[in-house]
Amino acid sequence: MSRIANDKYRDKVMSAEEAAKLIKNGDRVGFSGFTGAGYPKALPEALAAQIKAAHEAGEDFKIASYTGASTAPEHDGALAAVDGISMRMPYQSDPIMRNKINAGVSDYADVHLSHTAPQVRQGFWGNLDVAVVEVAAIKEDGTAIPSSSIGNNNVYLEKADKIILEVNAWQSLDLEGMHDVYSMKLPGENVPIPIQAPGDRIGSTTYDIDWSRVAAVIETDAEDRNTPFKPLDEDSKTIANNLLDFLANEVKQGRMPKDLLPMQSGVGNIANAVLVGLNEGPFERLTSYTEVIQDGMVDMIDSGKLLVASATAFSLSPEAAAKMNDGAAHYRNHIVLRPQEVSNNPEVIRRLGVVSCNGMIEADIYGNVNSTHIMGSRMMNGIGGSGDFTRNAYISCFVSPSLAKDGDISAIVPMVSHHDHTEHDVQVIITEQGLADLRGLSPKQRARVIIENCAHPDYREMLLDYVAQAERKANGAHTPHDLETAHAWHRRFLESGSMKQS
Ligand code: COA
Repeated sequence: MSRIANDKYRDKVMSAEEAAKLIKNGDRVGFSGFTGAGYPKALPEALAAQIKAAHEAGEDFKIASYTGASTAPEHDGALAAVDGISMRMPYQSDPIMRNKINAGVSDYADVHLSHTAPQVRQGFWGNLDVAVVEVAAIKEDGTAIPSSSIGNNNVYLEKADKIILEVNAWQSLDLEGMHDVYSMKLPGENVPIPIQAPGDRIGSTTYDIDWSRVAAVIETDAEDRNTPFKPLDEDSKTIANNLLDFLANEVKQGRMPKDLLPMQSGVGNIANAVLVGLNEGPFERLTSYTEVIQDGMVDMIDSGKLLVASATAFSLSPEAAAKMNDGAAHYRNHIVLRPQEVSNNPEVIRRLGVVSCNGMIEADIYGNVNSTHIMGSRMMNGIGGSGDFTRNAYISCFVSPSLAKDGDISAIVPMVSHHDHTEHDVQVIITEQGLADLRGLSPKQRARVIIENCAHPDYREMLLDYVAQAERKANGAHTPHDLETAHAWHRRFLESGSMKQS
């Protein structure tokens, strides 16, 4: 049975190939899609074919591609493979897209996820030519049921000259009721967001769409394609246990209630491992105000440990996505999906007292964190929501194994090669070696605690030598650095393949 219950929308049904012709060279396109959920399944590949044909005919054809966050191989991957993207924002994690960014083929703007909708609304990203948004169904009254992510869809639907909808029959109709669509206004017109608890609903369950701008409707039946999480290793389990011990102590000290405060958990394998640890840990009746629903959270809802989770998208393995599709009628009592300008909103995060926990690439001895760049230059994924949550959390944590690349890289370095989160925002660093609680410490005190508690033993002496040398050279100044050698470890890795001294 068709998922399009409104005749006017049915009249606009066409193939992805026909709809792709509505997009022209130089267009700015706002796509749905967030961490592999709710991205358009048919149009990007049809558009990629059109771009490829244009290039083969010697014509220019590139678009600016804006999304919620990362998408999937048949979206980012397909458009990047044909060199079809001039500018990408605000977050990606596709290997082909990443390579094109790092090869200089595509420009990329790595933007805080809470900033993107206001910036688009305010016109910082130029006129939006087209919105391409996946929905689960179009109702008789012309409103649309969102699919497995909301991201920036509300603002793209609001601002685009033309709207192309993909109606995906794979998405569960029982998702209806899970969403809470609430759009912010322009500066000066905004009122406080009335969220007092993660499960509060303040908006509508559907998108209101301006029919006059709808140019095409495409029918699809295709699953969200997510990467499975890596199996949990011993280090991930130890990192999770270190965080659980810390939280238990916070409760003991009276700094947190027994059922904790709303938890935020970032993307990636380690963050998911933390959720697995929480599910096996002693805490009950938990809540979450976060960005994505990962497998670990679905398990926590199943076990009854997690009462409610607020997010903007799913980031589920294929198995967990199938479970969500079958059980959406149950899960919608425990999950609220919101636009990312609300899920990641600093005002709400600060008010609720969120405990944030995100992965990192490296931290330095003073607590500055790099989440995005390998060896200072090469973009990995992007800052995503880690800045939104870290800066505004009640307690902000970063988790990482102490080593990368078989021990040739230390995650604790003298000076980070790129700054995403400053020492002012980072409160707790956790590796499999232990936990550094940086609250209340001066830079020199922080350096000792990070090295002793978090650095791998293979690198501890080297770090202590650096600190001693930096303190000597800087005459004991507030944050001692030896600028000549602060990045020697990164240079050594680039030259010899290891940060270790030979
Ligand atoms: N130098 C070089 N490579 C490093 C590294 C370092 N210091 N630290 C990690 N890596 C590599 C790993 O080797 C691994 O590479 P592989 O995919 O080739 O195996 C990759 O980065 C991922 O590392 P992993 O340890 O598996 O961590 P992860 O899956 O938890 O991801 C981040 C870590 C930092 C990449 C990820 O958390 C991220 O993109 N964060 C930024 C966005 C964010 O925090 N969003 C949260 C929003 S709420």
